[in-house]
Amino acid sequence: MMTRRKRYVQVGVGSRAWNYTVALVKTMKSTCELVGICDTNRGRMQLCNRKIVSDLQGKAVPMFLDTEFDAMIRRLKPDIVVVTSVDCTHDRYIVRAMDLGCDVVTEKPMTIDEKKCQRIVDAVNRSGRDLRVTFNCRYMPAMLQVKDLLMQGVIGKILSVDVHWILDVDHGASYFRRWHGEIGKSGGLLLHKATHHLDLVNWFLSANPVEVFAMGDRSFYGAQSGMVGRYGLQGHGERCLTCRRAKKCPFFMDIRKSAALREQYLKCEKYDGYIRDRCVFHKKVDIMDTMNLVVRYDNGAFLSYSLNTFTPYEGFRYAFNGNKGRLEFEHIGAPMTSQGKALPAKGLPAGMSIRLYPHFKPARSIPLRKFKGGHWGGDARLMADVFGTKSVKDPYMRAANYASGAMSILIGAAANKSMRTGQPVKITGLVKGLPPARLPKMKQW
Ligand SMILES: NC(=O)c1ccc[n+]([C@@H]2O[C@H](COP(=O)([O-])OP(=O)(O)OC[C@H]3O[C@@H](n4cnc5c(N)ncnc54)[C@H](O)[C@@H]3O)[C@@H](O)[C@H]2O)c1
Repeated sequence: MMTRRKRYVQVGVGSRAWNYTVALVKTMKSTCELVGICDTNRGRMQLCNRKIVSDLQGKAVPMFLDTEFDAMIRRLKPDIVVVTSVDCTHDRYIVRAMDLGCDVVTEKPMTIDEKKCQRIVDAVNRSGRDLRVTFNCRYMPAMLQVKDLLMQGVIGKILSVDVHWILDVDHGASYFRRWHGEIGKSGGLLLHKATHHLDLVNWFLSANPVEVFAMGDRSFYGAQSGMVGRYGLQGHGERCLTCRRAKKCPFFMDIRKSAALREQYLKCEKYDGYIRDRCVFHKKVDIMDTMNLVVRYDNGAFLSYSLNTFTPYEGFRYAFNGNKGRLEFEHIGAPMTSQGKALPAKGLPAGMSIRLYPHFKPARSIPLRKFKGGHWGGDARLMADVFGTKSVKDPYMRAANYASGAMSILIGAAANKSMRTGQPVKITGLVKGLPPARLPKMKQW
């Protein structure tokens, strides 16, 4: 018997949303049907529809403004709402969609603070609907290899983890040019960005965070960091496009040069005033750019984590210390200009590696499985899992529900609170009615 295709609507049609549109209209069309889109910006919705027709050979779908969300649900009767809008708006659509009888697939971060998280948890408990949080990092083959090694118990019981992420002056700076730079819209990078890194720790450890202590600052970007003076950019503009210091500024980006940025943002400014090339030293930037935290887990393990957003190259290091040895997982990217051009780094280490150091035995490098596609091969695998119908039992339990979504963002929310108060913050007291995340069993020694 043929099963009916599931009906989807999408809220938020910015850059990330297109991955979902492609899946719903093209790659997963045997199981899915996109029936409507919703956004605050009519221009971006029209562009999305033009691209559905020209790039995906699909049919344009009805468009609804944010104020017409309820009307869209009543008229189109979708099974599932996909939320790919600005982070601070996720809770609004998740809660309303579930109350109107829909399941929800939401981009990370599930939401940006504990109050919004409580609204979501209450709505799940009230409606009994499904809420899936799309952590694409769990689907990257390299991350899966690390999870597999840890689950097999190659380093025994994990006692502590050191995680350091650095975002370069291209990618890292991009967060300070957009809405992400405002804490009210993104929750700061411990929510917006670290939700990926911290969910991976929760998942790698198969454990739930209990308590957080954090310190951080805004030392590089923003109006008060002192970098404007150091670069000699006094009198700079609000945005790159009209800045009289453009020639002197190492962070200058020409929004007109990229067809994607021009079409999606510059030409759509007239609808909502969303400036995509805002100055990284703008006075509205109020998020931290250097962050450090310590987390205690319910299995006794500790995490020490740092996130810096102004480094010459991008990369990460996860180092797991177990009672049988140590596992290191690292990536070192190329040094970049702030316009995304790679610079030479002759003779320096580069790329991804996994190294295993068992106690009292020789160490070895673990060969990485090959992968291709967006976000280190994670996006396509995630889309197939979220939008397909195959229900294969996944021993790694990568499909994250609202409990995993909450556990990851609550570390960031607790860290923000800890930075404000100077005190450690218990995660368990932040939200009521939240079950522990569903995570696979680890082999113990
Ligand atoms: N998993 C990943 O790798 C990944 C990567 C990038 C972004 N994201 C997530 O995807 C989401 C979108 O990010 P983006 O980079 O596409 O941002 P974007 O700025 O390109 O797009 C955001 C869209 O939301 C719309 N919007 C703003 N307010 C709205 C409202 N009240 N109602 C409906 N729509 C509204 C904007 O008009 C815009 O079209 C974010 O939640 C972000 O965290 C995830």
